[in-house]
Parts: sequence; structure tokens; C-alpha cells
Amino acid sequence: MSNITVAGTGYVGLVTGVCLAEVGHQVTCVDNNDEKIYLLRQGISPIYEPGLDELIVKNTENGKLDFTTDYQSVYAHSDVIFIGVGTPENEDGSANLNYVFTVAKEIAESVEQDCLVVVKSTVPIGTNDRVEAYIKAHLKHNVKIEVASNPEFLAQGTAVRDTLYASRIVIGTESDEAKQILMDVYEPFKLPILAMNRRSAEMVKYASNDFLALKISFINDIANLCEKVGANIEDVTNGMSYDERIGNRFLNPGIGYGGSCFPKDTKALHWLAEEEGYILRTVKAAIDVNEKQKYALIKKARNDFPTFNEKKVAVLGLTFKPGTDDLREAPSIPNIRLLLNEGARIQAFDPVGIENYKKLFPDQISYKHSIEEALEDAELCFIFTEWPEIKEMDLGLFKEKMKTPYIYDGRNCFSLYEIQNKGVNYHSIGRPSVIEYGVLDEVQA
Ligand code: UGA
Repeated sequence: MSNITVAGTGYVGLVTGVCLAEVGHQVTCVDNNDEKIYLLRQGISPIYEPGLDELIVKNTENGKLDFTTDYQSVYAHSDVIFIGVGTPENEDGSANLNYVFTVAKEIAESVEQDCLVVVKSTVPIGTNDRVEAYIKAHLKHNVKIEVASNPEFLAQGTAVRDTLYASRIVIGTESDEAKQILMDVYEPFKLPILAMNRRSAEMVKYASNDFLALKISFINDIANLCEKVGANIEDVTNGMSYDERIGNRFLNPGIGYGGSCFPKDTKALHWLAEEEGYILRTVKAAIDVNEKQKYALIKKARNDFPTFNEKKVAVLGLTFKPGTDDLREAPSIPNIRLLLNEGARIQAFDPVGIENYKKLFPDQISYKHSIEEALEDAELCFIFTEWPEIKEMDLGLFKEKMKTPYIYDGRNCFSLYEIQNKGVNYHSIGRPSVIEYGVLDEVQA
């Protein structure tokens, strides 16, 4: 088993490190953030990810996993160093590679033995070449270094499972030696390994994410049209899904994709293509549709409420998707900002996202720890995330708790069948609205 170091303890780095230890490697995770390393050494994950804490504790206790800020000592004697740091978005949409090159510099200055550097971070095509040239130019010792690409395909909320039981492992190398080292590292996973050159591996990552983003924007586009022509997107996607070439996944309409990957990776590839003198029209369309889709609910609510000033608004779900406390590019954020700017009084519920939300909106929102409290006396309700708690809630609560039960569901949490006869006005994405508030009362009276 190899002696492995992983640089970066965010989603990519930490989950990779923990899973490599789980299959038997000796792993040290490095981060320059003292607080994160302190927490990890206590067995506490700095990110919310189901199943991760248990594996951290288990592998730390059995001596397979360690955490440190002292990169020099660990880089000096590693067989393989994975780079799993963030590549956030620059203002122009390009990928910011500062963290990757900071680690590359630290590696170059520290390594004292031959070593394979593996870039796991999502980086623009050609970056591995640049990282290799950079490390070689800055080496302090006479050692042999090679760089390989090994993109990751984990999704937040299922990151551990996605890594241990990945659909595939993609490795991009320029030599048989590097390929063999990575084959050996991944052998214990017993998963399909696809070997190719570095640039192709880098492209697999972007093409996969951008294709998924395109699928979501496509279905959002069709959902919007369904509303206009009186079709129901649920029936439409169901009808499409029986064609195996289309499938039934990633066809859920909503208020757009968020998170740390799709928004960033679509823009980065589009930007990169432009640099090459090529316009990626399909990806551009995915970005444009997504930008507009974020406001699909507010647009519906405007028909009922010309202004949100002084309105008491319940918000259910804040994170960019269920199963994570991550708020990066969460569609709830621009919507809540708009509501607050207009003078709405927001009472919000989320099962895990509240602490992080408080960092963005410390005083402007009244945070609630239950759905009931968030709905109390509200005049309208927005649903931004399809948490199980929300999907399984007692639908009678809307009428019971709210002052006027106007509901705008951005994630189609409830079937139209189950929301019927609940005395509410319910608007979702790509499906007919249910209009009962007031109407049913009159009929019953
Ligand atoms: C995504 C990919 O799914 C992973 O394969 C990839 O490895 C990862 O990015 C990455 O590059 O690191 P993630 O961002 O964690 O994973 O989340 P997803 O589950 O893909 O969801 C992204 C967004 O799309 C969410 O806002 C979600 O609500 C939205 N979405 C997803 C839809 O609106 N409709 C769908 O049918 C599916």
C-alpha cells in the first residue's frame, strides 16, 4: 500500500483521503487551516457529509489516517500526493488556480523522493501540463516528479458512497509508470478504471458536469413551456424516461442548479472555449436558462403579491440541495436577497443550513427550528430545497398555520394529488397550479 498525502480537506480532498485510508492506504491529509485540522484530529468533520465522521474516527483509530498542517514533513516522503484544493470562480468566469499553484510550490520545495502528484481538483484542460512544468522548475531536490490527472465525480450528500462505489475512476497520465502507480492506488476499490491522457481526463470532468447541467436546464426550459401549453412536466419526463437513451435521472425541474460545481464548471468551460476561439453554444444556453430559472418562483408569486413589502414570508429549505449544509450558489440566496430588499419579513427553516446562513444574513431573517414555526402566520411560503423533512411534512399545516396559504414550491416536493383538498393555493414548476384557498371555503359554506 502506498504512502499517500492529500492536500486540502474540503469536500474533494477530505473524502478522497478518508476513502483511500478506508481501502487500506496510509494517508495524511494536509491543510493550512489550523482549526480544521484541530477538529479533524478530534474525529470531527468540518463539513456535513453523511457517513464521513464515522470513517474519520475508524481510520484515525486504526492508524491509517492522520491530519496535519505541517506540509513540509509529509510532502518530503510521500509516494503519491493528491491535490484536492478548491478552484473557485474568477469574476470573468474562469477557474481560479491560485490554491492549486500554492500547493504545487509547496510540493516542489518540500519533496525529497520521487513522487507522483495527482490533480483531483477540477482544473481547466492543460493545467496538469502547467503544474508539472511549474513543479519541475521549482524543485529543491534532485527527484523525479510526474503529474497525473484524476478527476472526481462525487456529489455532496453522497460523497462517501460516490467515492467508495464510484461509477468509474478516470486517470490521465503521460507515462506507463504513472499509470501503473495510479492503477495500484485504485486496485483495492475494485472499480472500472479508465486510463487516458491527461488532457482527455481533464475534459471528462468538465464534459460530464456540463452535460448534467445542460440536462437540468433543458428540462427546466421544457417545464416552463409545459406551464404555458397546459402539459404536466412530471408526466412528460416519465414518458421520456422509458427511452433508455434518455433515462430518468437529472430530469427534475426546479429553480435551477446550484452548488460549488455546475455553476462554476459551466462558466469555466465556456470561458476556456472562448479563449480557444470557440463558442460552446449549448453550455452557454444552460448557463442562461439557469440564471433566469432562479427567479421562476418569485415571478409566480408576483402575480398574487405585487409587492412583498411587510409580507410575512415562510421559507422552507435554504441549502443548494438536500443532504448538505453547503450554500454555495444556493438559489435561495438571490431570492431571499430580493425579498429582503423589498421589505419582506422572512421566517426560515432548514434542517442543517441555518448556522451557515446566519453568516450571510445574521439579523435580517428570523430562523426557525421547525416547519410549524416557519409557517406561523405567514402570508406566503417559498420552498427552495427538497429536504425529506419538507417532502414528508403534514400538508394540513399550510392551512392550519399560515395566515393565507399561498405556496410556491421550487422543487415539486408534493404530488398534485396529495396537495389537493388541503385548501391552499399551490404553484410548482412545470405543473398546473392548484387553486383552492378561498374557493373551497366558499363551496363548503
Ligand atoms: C455535482 C455532480 O453531480 C457530481 O457528479 C460532481 O462530481 C460534482 O458536481 C463535482 O463536480 O464536484 P453536486 O454539485 O454535489 O454534484 O450536486 P448535484 O446533486 O449534482 O446537484 C447540483 C444541483 O443541480 C443542485 O442544485 C440540484 O438541486 C440541481 N438538480 C439536480 C436539479 O435541479 N435537477 C436534477 O434533476 C438534479
